[in-house]
Amino acid sequence: MLSMINEAVSFIRSRYVTTPTVGLVLGSGLGTFTKEINIEAEIAYNEIPHFPVSTVEGHIGNLIFGVLGKKKIVAMAGRFHYYEGYTAEQIVFPVRVMKFLGIETLLLSNAAGAVNPAFHVGDLMIITDHISQLIPNPLIGKNFLELGTRFPDMSEPYKRHLIHKVRSIAEEKNIKIREGVYVAVTGPTFETRSEYKMIHAMGGDAVGMSTVPECIAAVHMGLPVFAMSVITDVGIREEENVITHEEVLQAARDAEPNFATLFCDLIRQL
Ligand code: HPA
Repeated sequence: MLSMINEAVSFIRSRYVTTPTVGLVLGSGLGTFTKEINIEAEIAYNEIPHFPVSTVEGHIGNLIFGVLGKKKIVAMAGRFHYYEGYTAEQIVFPVRVMKFLGIETLLLSNAAGAVNPAFHVGDLMIITDHISQLIPNPLIGKNFLELGTRFPDMSEPYKRHLIHKVRSIAEEKNIKIREGVYVAVTGPTFETRSEYKMIHAMGGDAVGMSTVPECIAAVHMGLPVFAMSVITDVGIREEENVITHEEVLQAARDAEPNFATLFCDLIRQL
């Protein structure tokens, strides 16, 4: 594992020498955020040793290096999901590589379905906590002490000080923001009516197919995490409720300007 990480890091350094301090994972429909970055280098995932290759429509599959608000940043345009057939460990490989490249903060984003009945399509939700028990944990298997401890504490997976910063930015910029618990599922099916109800009953506000493995791998390595969901559909509805990938992508694209404002300001303040 460590030699794989080091090989990927060496390859990347052979193409781009600057050390990024912020890592960013862009979720479905949020790839246009890369226009905010003054791009200095772009490396396709399939060039990087041991990187999985993204297969989903709406996910491009590039590691992007550049500057945003004076911060050196590495962004993943396209991420890996359990439903694509990767192991949980493969999914988090890029996060480990970013940590070894030098990042000090990890910012995660995703498209998610709401199960909190107060939420609407287009809402932005700060993830304050998560429930990960419906998908495999990426730390299952041999523990690498060089990465972190066998039994990581998960009492604050999303750092309070980062949540506070985004709350203040949202207030200052007059952007309505939700907060809530993200429940991770495997997908690729969207949920049945009963599953959405179960997710709400177990304490979730939103549900999605990503983010939590990456957060766990980051916490394991002591890397501070902030995460935000774009609500792209509402799961709990009595009326007809067919959810499509196209509508999810469109809703995320529509919410992207507010998302960009919050993330750009947060990155500047890090
Ligand atoms: N369920 C699971 N994942 C999702 C959803 C959803 O409703 N919307 C976007 N990603």
